Amino acid sequence: MNAVERSIRQRIALEGPLTVAQLMQEALAGRGGYYRDNDPLGPEGDFVTAPEVSQMFGELIGLWCVDTWQRLGAPAKFHLVEIGPGRGTLMADALRAARVAPAFLAAKQLHLVEINAALRQQQAERLVDHTPIWHETLGSVPEGPMLLIANELFDALPIHQLVMTDDGWRERVVAENSSGLAFGVTAPSSAIGLLRPAHRNAKSGAVAEVSPAAIALIDAIARRLVRDNGAALIIDYGPAESGLGDSFQALKRHKFHLPLEALGEADLTAHVDFGALTDAAAEAGAQVFGPTAQGDFLRALGIELRANMLAQKADAATGEILHRQVHRLIAPEQMGRLFKVIGLAGPQLNIERAGGLAGL
Ligand SMILES: C[S@@+](CC[C@H](N)C(=O)[O-])C[C@H]1O[C@@H](n2cnc3c(N)ncnc32)[C@H](O)[C@@H]1O
Repeated sequence: MNAVERSIRQRIALEGPLTVAQLMQEALAGRGGYYRDNDPLGPEGDFVTAPEVSQMFGELIGLWCVDTWQRLGAPAKFHLVEIGPGRGTLMADALRAARVAPAFLAAKQLHLVEINAALRQQQAERLVDHTPIWHETLGSVPEGPMLLIANELFDALPIHQLVMTDDGWRERVVAENSSGLAFGVTAPSSAIGLLRPAHRNAKSGAVAEVSPAAIALIDAIARRLVRDNGAALIIDYGPAESGLGDSFQALKRHKFHLPLEALGEADLTAHVDFGALTDAAAEAGAQVFGPTAQGDFLRALGIELRANMLAQKADAATGEILHRQVHRLIAPEQMGRLFKVIGLAGPQLNIERAGGLAGL
């Protein structure tokens, strides 16, 4: 038994069953948790994210940032924030592409919100020329106009699972029985308040997932944009509209595991509820764009054109690799449809004059 599982069992012995959200929090972000010390990314890790598939992903986001900054009136100073920057690949590619706009680079102060010590080290190496400031949470990023990026962050935020039974909604919890950790149900926690109205009368057996942590984060981002001007780009996987179903899963070495196996050693993730995120952001006063499928977003930003241009200058084998990378990012059966993109902006973005946000 590893240290994370031991501490989860101790906590259950002391406090009783844990909600799925408490389990995720402990296993991912608690002491020794999956996102505290590991580098989970890349072919040798547990999964590969879009910026690790191709540099074109980060480059196009860099150009999106320059374009959005111009639409926001090109503030002379702004905070460029990434939450969950992984190895720093996306931001390094983005800032290289942004060299086309020296005024953008001169106006930005880079902030990285990251809880993982090993990844902070890699970010420091890749982004040394941009003197980033690290934060444990968004709360310590100073006030002021902001451009914010988060790719594959929200799927790692804890979810609660609510299960409809013949006696009404119950909450899925993790308890200990004679053979180890096992799922059970108890009376629902206050998370039931986030249940989507359309799901309240679901059929017996239905599972609903709600994430107070995701709602709190999107609300904090939106409020800052409303107060200080700016925009955010959030990319993750999940359906465009809120749905029912159990999407809680564990991923280790590119394979799915049962969520209670290898706690602390496998990524625990769930689909992002974009309907809940966009509603919360709009309620906080932000302008909301999307969700748009990642394939459509990248195509609108010109990924195919970019790949063709690079391929023309490269040998045949490299050209083949570039086209495989684009396929992985945009094909519907790959990352193109399941992954969605949403944009948020403060009310200062004048839609009539600026025309919304590129690609959304
Ligand atoms: C799935 S990785 C994605 C990394 C990167 N965005 C990419 O696309 O390659 C999730 C990232 O979020 C970070 N992370 C996880 N939970 C976090 C939290 N609560 N606050 C800030 N960062 C977090 C992880 O350490 C990691 O950098």
